[in-house]
Amino acid sequence: MSTASQYVLEARDISKHFDGVFALNEVDLQIRTGEIHALLGENGAGKSTLIKVLTGVYAPDSGTMHLEGEGITFKGVSSAHKAGVVALYQELSIVPNVSVAENIVLGDDMPTRAGLVDWKELRRIAREQLDRLNQGQIPVQRMAGRLTPVQQTMVAVARAIAVKAKVLILDEPTAALTDHEIQDLFRVLRNLRAEGVAIVYVSHRLEEVFELCDRATIMRNGRVMTTTDVADTTIREVISTMVGRNQEDLFPTRGIPGASTAVEIHNLSGQRVKDVSLSVKEGEVLGIGGLAGSGRSELLRIIAGAQRHTSGRIVIDGQETNHKSVAAALSHGVALVPEERRSQGVVLSQSIGENIAVGNLTSISKWGLVTRARIKSLASNSIAELQIKSRGPHQTVGQLSGGNQQKVVLAKYLARNPKVLLLDEPTRGIDVGTKSEIYGLIRGLAAKGAAVIVVSSELPELIGLADRIVLMHEGHISGEVSAAGADEEQLLSYCYGRAAS
Ligand SMILES: Nc1ncnc2c1ncn2[C@@H]1O[C@H](COP(=O)(O)OP(=O)(O)OP(=O)(O)O)[C@@H](O)[C@H]1O
Ligand SMILES: [Mg+2]
Repeated sequence: MSTASQYVLEARDISKHFDGVFALNEVDLQIRTGEIHALLGENGAGKSTLIKVLTGVYAPDSGTMHLEGEGITFKGVSSAHKAGVVALYQELSIVPNVSVAENIVLGDDMPTRAGLVDWKELRRIAREQLDRLNQGQIPVQRMAGRLTPVQQTMVAVARAIAVKAKVLILDEPTAALTDHEIQDLFRVLRNLRAEGVAIVYVSHRLEEVFELCDRATIMRNGRVMTTTDVADTTIREVISTMVGRNQEDLFPTRGIPGASTAVEIHNLSGQRVKDVSLSVKEGEVLGIGGLAGSGRSELLRIIAGAQRHTSGRIVIDGQETNHKSVAAALSHGVALVPEERRSQGVVLSQSIGENIAVGNLTSISKWGLVTRARIKSLASNSIAELQIKSRGPHQTVGQLSGGNQQKVVLAKYLARNPKVLLLDEPTRGIDVGTKSEIYGLIRGLAAKGAAVIVVSSELPELIGLADRIVLMHEGHISGEVSAAGADEEQLLSYCYGRAAS
């Protein structure tokens, strides 16, 4: 019997190493027509590398690939593209400074008339693809870089379906999306599945995987551990296969906040933030919840001096600072780990050591000298604490997996020993095994007297990690609760601006 119809794409025995270290070790993957297939594993497990092999970005060292039963070798992305195997990579692959239409219809497929690009036809094709995704409201002439994150993702999906993808691969597509936008994307993916497209889906959000996917392949250390029907397994089981052990307690025990107030804001307003007052004690972890657009990130940016406030006061350690620049905030011991970490927080061409050392020079210089040994020991500590999967402090950050790049940024700010630490979505893109390490580090910093403010879209994370939670709605604080024993539904109703019943 021929297997040609059973799998649309199959990888057999694929290995790939970088400088002698295996990123993929004899990997087998079988993708069926019309399924959504999750690819799971910890940061650095090899998911993105596998995707890059499947789409011709990397040539494997050994192993074979089969498309609809036929052996095939992709010589680069465009050859995979032509064969109908298309990926949206973890690093979002739209071209920001050209129009939406040109992003959807790429190079070779541009319609031409008398040797010139037929712009009218180009826009028509682009619109048609966006309509299929129910995204007809996205203006096709706009620069793609000016779209919202979900619109950019949709444009990338539109490009994939424009080439009639047989296999569509998405590497953490929801990292920058809100719950509502995620549901939009899921609707699109389910429609594509119904049309017979095979979808490979990478995500660290397991609830999402269980909602959307039919089967899952779980990787660990460059190997495939198992492939299973999602209906036949549980989140718990998936986690223990991913990390190779049972998950211990995810959250650390809470501390006891100190007596003195580390940061106070009074009647603060900005663009979206309106008349917000709150205070955080030394040693206290304050969680901030709210829907996207409720002003959470803006509030953090204002406290960090990264955005100006239009009125109100900021008081640090009893001293009115009203700082209006990042440098001024830092000089008062206030540091922000931004949400867009990969674009705002690291230099990809520098080593882990250099990245962590930048901005931490005072803590590592001895008599004004920054020694290589000190950079190395600071970085080595971070690598151990945050379980950064790397070959050591000298490795270039650009060579790390996406989640491990995020950890480097986090390490850089944690090593600063800030008095007031602001974190925006600190565990986004981070695997479940490492999340608890990060919670532990945040608690550890608080135990040393730091005041911590954490913004998160995951309510269970706020409930488990924080001492106190405030909820924001349309720029205002809509509710405040003590985190221990807080009820998710109650928090959610505050997020929607309703008082809890
Ligand atoms: N260009 C490269 N040079 C050297 N090593 C690399 C390169 N690309 C990936 N690696 C290594 O291969 C391993 C697998 O990385 P990969 O990006 O595939 O992980 P991942 O499963 O996608 O992780 P994440 O969830 O963090 O995105 C990692 O140890 C990474 O450091
Ligand atoms: Mg990856």
